[in-house]
Amino acid sequence: LEEKVAVEAGGCPHAAGSRAQSLDSIPGPTNWPLVGSLVQLLRKGGLTRQHEALVEYHKRFGKIFRMKLGTFESVHIGAPCLLEALYREEGIYPQRLEIKPWKAYRDMRDEAYGLLILEGKDWQRMRSAFQQKLMKPTEVVKLDRKINEVLVDFVGRVGKININGKIEDLYFELNKWSFETICLVLYDKRFGLLQDQVNEEAMNFITSVKTVGMMSTFGIMMVTPVALHKNLNTKIWKDHTAAWDRIFSTAKVYIDRKLKRSGAKDPDDLINDIFRHSDLSKKELYAAITELQIGGVETTANSMLWFIFNLSRNPAAQKKLLEEIKRVVPPDQDPCGEHIKSMPYLKACLKESMRLLPSVPFTSRTLDKDTVLGNYSIPKGTVLMINTHAVSANEEYFDDCKNFKPERWLRENNNIEPFAHVPFGIGKRMCIGRRLAELQLQLAMCWLVRDYKIVATDNEPLDVIHSGLLVPNRELPVAFNRR
Ligand code: HEM
Repeated sequence: LEEKVAVEAGGCPHAAGSRAQSLDSIPGPTNWPLVGSLVQLLRKGGLTRQHEALVEYHKRFGKIFRMKLGTFESVHIGAPCLLEALYREEGIYPQRLEIKPWKAYRDMRDEAYGLLILEGKDWQRMRSAFQQKLMKPTEVVKLDRKINEVLVDFVGRVGKININGKIEDLYFELNKWSFETICLVLYDKRFGLLQDQVNEEAMNFITSVKTVGMMSTFGIMMVTPVALHKNLNTKIWKDHTAAWDRIFSTAKVYIDRKLKRSGAKDPDDLINDIFRHSDLSKKELYAAITELQIGGVETTANSMLWFIFNLSRNPAAQKKLLEEIKRVVPPDQDPCGEHIKSMPYLKACLKESMRLLPSVPFTSRTLDKDTVLGNYSIPKGTVLMINTHAVSANEEYFDDCKNFKPERWLRENNNIEPFAHVPFGIGKRMCIGRRLAELQLQLAMCWLVRDYKIVATDNEPLDVIHSGLLVPNRELPVAFNRR
């Protein structure tokens, strides 16, 4: 009965007003002294299973619950109506949870912050400098030429390196593909990651980008005081610093080179365009570009991995997609941004793939004012976890939610609530690379499916674990058979 009351109390619509209850009355798992729910979470499989635990907690406690892990307390929301309420309530400078280790490095080296860690007016200033170029569909579509340049190499490489259709460490190959693409888009520079022999500079760059986002360094520093690591000069701090040093020194070389060549032939010159049309300093530009790169590599590779997996397990959908590709893209042409506009089934397949297996299962906000959500009044300063995966994995919002059904997005009057599917986050602070990522993923799948039949090499269930992003716990059981 207690749980039933809890579910109803957290319900929508967000009526509340003067009846709003306090933070303390939000239900949630056991809160033991010192550890909070940490022991329970560890029993459920630990942090690598946290996405599953969150789904379960939402089932038990309803659309909103409160949880403490050690000293870290957060309120979790997992219903479209609450996400919408947050969207409507959010102030002009929404804030995510602080990434303290990244800030500590920048402060130490006197470097600027980028979009991932900036706050307040400075965040908004940087965001508006990039907003037009990265979020306006008519601007983003112009990047198809660069995306395709890398795809020619990627598809060629898939043909070359497969053994009976299987590719060793497909995830790393996809990371190289997305890294190469974002570097071409940002710096207009090819790193040669898709060649047989990868040069040392490129390898160091990709490894450093991976290191600063890795759970092994970043994760530990998020839950222990950064100052301690810095003062004791722990190995984690040293690795973290060395990785950032390499990223900044490499990025600066290419940004400077680009700025020197301003006005040269490149019509999609992002760096010069932004620098000329904004009041960002060079230091800010370095930080902004670097963080775009960090935000864009593994997320896109990971979404592509799941997209490939979902099509391997759903041959009927893949067949339908191939028919659409053949109908829209003439055989003597390469798929391009213009073609994508006439491919609703491809878009539905990507949406469904990101619903079923999203790369980023949640995002966060630190409330900058008292906010009423559901029936609760939540005070300023509270950390809010926005459990987007728990929403899209809920039968209440998606019929037959465990199955891949692209058609659900194409039905007229499909009744899917607008905030039920938000894999790129919500509101003013949503992912700024969203349009670029979608175009990249859609084009990549067009090229792949046109040339290869993606097949499942087994039909055993695939275990999904959380390691910053949702990843499979084994090599993906897929093969690429040339058509
Ligand atoms: C933020 C997901 C690709 C750059 C975010 C957020 C999510 C996300 C969930 C947090 C949004 C929020 O808090 O509401 C993804 C996924 C991607 C992807 C799933 C690929 C499929 C990219 C790409 C770039 C990028 C390609 C760079 C071009 C960023 C940046 C932010 C961000 C800079 C912070 C934006 C801000 O706070 O203003 N992303 N992302 N992302 N993403 Fe992405």
